[in-house]
Amino acid sequence: MMNQYLPQVKEQREADHAIDPIFLNRWSPRSYKSDAVPDEVLFSLFEAARWAPSASNEQPWRFVFARTQEDKERFYPFIADGNRVWCEKAPVLVLVISKTIGSRGTHNRAHAFDAGTAWGYLALEATRQGLVTHAMGGFDPEKAREVLGIPEGYEPQAVIAVGYQGEKEALNEALQEREKPSTRRALSETVFEGVFTAK
Ligand SMILES: Cc1cc2nc3c(=O)[nH]c(=O)nc-3n(C[C@H](O)[C@H](O)[C@H](O)COP(=O)(O)O)c2cc1C
Repeated sequence: MMNQYLPQVKEQREADHAIDPIFLNRWSPRSYKSDAVPDEVLFSLFEAARWAPSASNEQPWRFVFARTQEDKERFYPFIADGNRVWCEKAPVLVLVISKTIGSRGTHNRAHAFDAGTAWGYLALEATRQGLVTHAMGGFDPEKAREVLGIPEGYEPQAVIAVGYQGEKEALNEALQEREKPSTRRALSETVFEGVFTAK
């Protein structure tokens, strides 16, 4: 999918086993250029999410996106100030929602798990096409519900900023310090053969 590690990624991240560089190249910057995301690009990200697997193929993910000033201003009040300070520059904001009730009318235990897979697909396709994404749990789901008219049976999960990466220098000093790819726990702390060990 991708041949090379991005320069800023190469400095911070290393995979211990052979994988496609796209997995390390996806990270969550906070600096965005003001460049708009063309329609065909934006919809190709949702298309990638569309093909995620889900329990009983329920496809419980839903996306509400905002890219006009008017729509974005409707999103801002439900986003936490600490996120608003940087995400207002992103050309597109997406609220990921999951449908908690399955087609048989019963609770779908996998709704959040599956919406997470779909967002992961979206994020990787964005990386593949040279965009960046940043998920935010720092928002008020009840306010989002109210503002966007999300009924019971659907749960707001995360807001995603989507766009093209901007200069680190455009951020305030505190955010500049955080503007680098993070590392990960060792696989040995996460993967267990045969029996579980809490770590
Ligand atoms: C569900 C979810 C909620 C998150 N919430 C926030 C948030 O409110 N604000 C923020 O700056 N980053 C948020 N993040 C970004 C994570 O901190 C980030 O993904 C993690 O540190 C790993 O870094 P990476 O995405 O650059 O690899 C969130 C990520 C996820 C998946």
